[in-house]
Amino acid sequence: MRTGAKGSNMDKKKFYITTPIYYPSGTWHLGTCYTTVICDAIARFKRKAGYDVFYLTGTDEHGLKIEQKAKEAGVTPKEFVDKKVANLKSLWDRLKISYDKFIRTTDDYHEAAVQKIFDKLYAQGDIYKGEYEGYYCVPCETYWTKTQLVDGKCPDCGREVSLAKESCYFFRLSKYQDKLINLLETNEEFLLPKSRRNEMINNFLRPGLSDLAVTRSSFTWGVPVTFDPKHVIYVWIDALMNYVTALGYQGADDTLYKKYWPADIHMMGKEIVRFHSIIWPALLMALDIPLPKQVYGHGWLLMGQDKISKSKGNIVDPVELSDRYSVDAVRYYLLREIPFGQDGAYTTRAFLSRLNADLANDLGNLVKRTVAMVNKYTGGEIPAWSGKRENTDEEIIALAETTLAEVTANMDQLHIPEALEALFRLVQRANKYIDENCPWILAKDPDKKGRLGDVLYVLLECIRIVGVIIEPFLPDTAEKILSSFEGLTEQEKTFDSVTKFGGLQAKRVIEKEAIFMRVDVEKEIAEMESKIQKDEPKQEAQKAPVVPLPPEITIDDFAKVGLRVGKVLKAEKMEKTDKLLVMQVEVGEEVRTIVSGIAKYYTPEEMVGKQVVVVANLAPHAFRGVVSQGMLLCADDGQGGVVLVSPEKVVASGSEVR
Ligand code: MSP
Repeated sequence: MRTGAKGSNMDKKKFYITTPIYYPSGTWHLGTCYTTVICDAIARFKRKAGYDVFYLTGTDEHGLKIEQKAKEAGVTPKEFVDKKVANLKSLWDRLKISYDKFIRTTDDYHEAAVQKIFDKLYAQGDIYKGEYEGYYCVPCETYWTKTQLVDGKCPDCGREVSLAKESCYFFRLSKYQDKLINLLETNEEFLLPKSRRNEMINNFLRPGLSDLAVTRSSFTWGVPVTFDPKHVIYVWIDALMNYVTALGYQGADDTLYKKYWPADIHMMGKEIVRFHSIIWPALLMALDIPLPKQVYGHGWLLMGQDKISKSKGNIVDPVELSDRYSVDAVRYYLLREIPFGQDGAYTTRAFLSRLNADLANDLGNLVKRTVAMVNKYTGGEIPAWSGKRENTDEEIIALAETTLAEVTANMDQLHIPEALEALFRLVQRANKYIDENCPWILAKDPDKKGRLGDVLYVLLECIRIVGVIIEPFLPDTAEKILSSFEGLTEQEKTFDSVTKFGGLQAKRVIEKEAIFMRVDVEKEIAEMESKIQKDEPKQEAQKAPVVPLPPEITIDDFAKVGLRVGKVLKAEKMEKTDKLLVMQVEVGEEVRTIVSGIAKYYTPEEMVGKQVVVVANLAPHAFRGVVSQGMLLCADDGQGGVVLVSPEKVVASGSEVR
């Protein structure tokens, strides 16, 4: 992305950014907020840099998962999603998410446009009727072939899949394979970070694309196919279309579509990059619509080794965090702490350290000390600046004048933590400037009155510049900082006003309460961690999903399964996948290599030394070239995850389980 647009409203450059649309099915957690907060900082930054920005977010409301959840809750799917959506919107309001539009896939105009698009693809032969047989993962709303399953379960989330056989409509995805390879290979900016591009090419595109089943007929909660209403459109096709239907594509008024499409950035977590960098461009190619300029797959916010999610029972509640420590403490943590593009682990300690060190100590103190000194030495009046540059003035002024350029350069590269780092260099330099110039000593010498005035002005001007540049990241903080200046004009709040030192015109400062308060880290950690422990998934763990039993077997059938106790000697994550652990398991006299799809639920360290139950006479099976000699038994935890089955007391490895 490129910032730096100038000019009148008429010729402003357009910038269209999207988050994925959220499933309104679960509980919102800190990880949920990551994409939205990142996009918000980018959108606000672009607006302030002079772009005409359209920031889209919304909800993905159809599909079997929602239908089932609504049934469990005893309400209609629409009632179910209405409540969840209201909840999500209030979370976005709380976090100051400045979206321009919130699309719901149950909006009439969206449903009608999706139907038109589907009709068009059918009419031109890109969609055809066929027979589907495969495995469906309800929580991921994804079909898999048998070979794609890991231990018979969904390779993405490790949950049970169900066998589906039905007549359905297919999208000719295979037809676009070469074009997609060409797109990803020749357009280096299309999919970032680079590692995701290699993954898509090597793991999905090169092995070959199959046509995609794009309708379902076993449930009804979806957009009906106009020419065959027994079928509803596959939720991912319905969902992806939101990026254009929200702008009026195939609707009554497509002004926004004409103005903003193609999108500048589709932002999302890495697990859904496949849909956005393969299926979405293929659909657009079929529709002869220009492709988005960039798809960016960021990393996950992890808790320990796990993605933060409801199913893992490791929720960190963003509302609770923001109530306790402020919205901007949450935004700052998400924007600053996690290396953008990579996974980052949430810890309460890191969260509180950022709050104490960067926000309370560096930023909060700078503002508080400076305003207090101005009140004390000049009665709250902002001294006029003589323009003279002594001692360390040149350095701090040069830094202040180049900070916006530095932050912008980082934002252009989506180096978001680095952009904040650049801004905080000015904060730190200003704190050092106070220590270098000791205003309290200058104040004692009547001959130094002029110098004292200049030092205070330099500090206040740095604070104004920080207040202006920080707004896209921490809007409340910007407001608090800038309201320390009485009668600051709108012009003094613009990016334009911070590239040349000396723009501060306001006459007085107003003393406000501290922007951020330091907290007692140990005390807070104890309280916060105990809250995370007793979060709601534990209460729900009793509810096991109803999985129909397979047909009855005899004791002789059962005897064919060789179950043995094993002990894990060694475990490591399999390269290039988040799902698989490769373990060396001692089973009696022998040590076997066993590959299991439990990497999202157990770390390698946790596994070593554990006793497990092994299906020891299972035919060997190769996972990404590693042959697994057996399978570990696990139970569904009722939350979409799995727990290992272990003997209740330690027994000799190799013991029979019957
Ligand atoms: N409905 C689909 C998207 C369809 S877009 C056409 C979906 N929804 S989601 O609710 O599961 O995810 C929404 C966003 O939240 C995704 O970008 C996802 O990666 C992000 N996150 C959810 N948990 C996360 C973390 N723990 N960490 C970082 N982001 C994660 O997928």
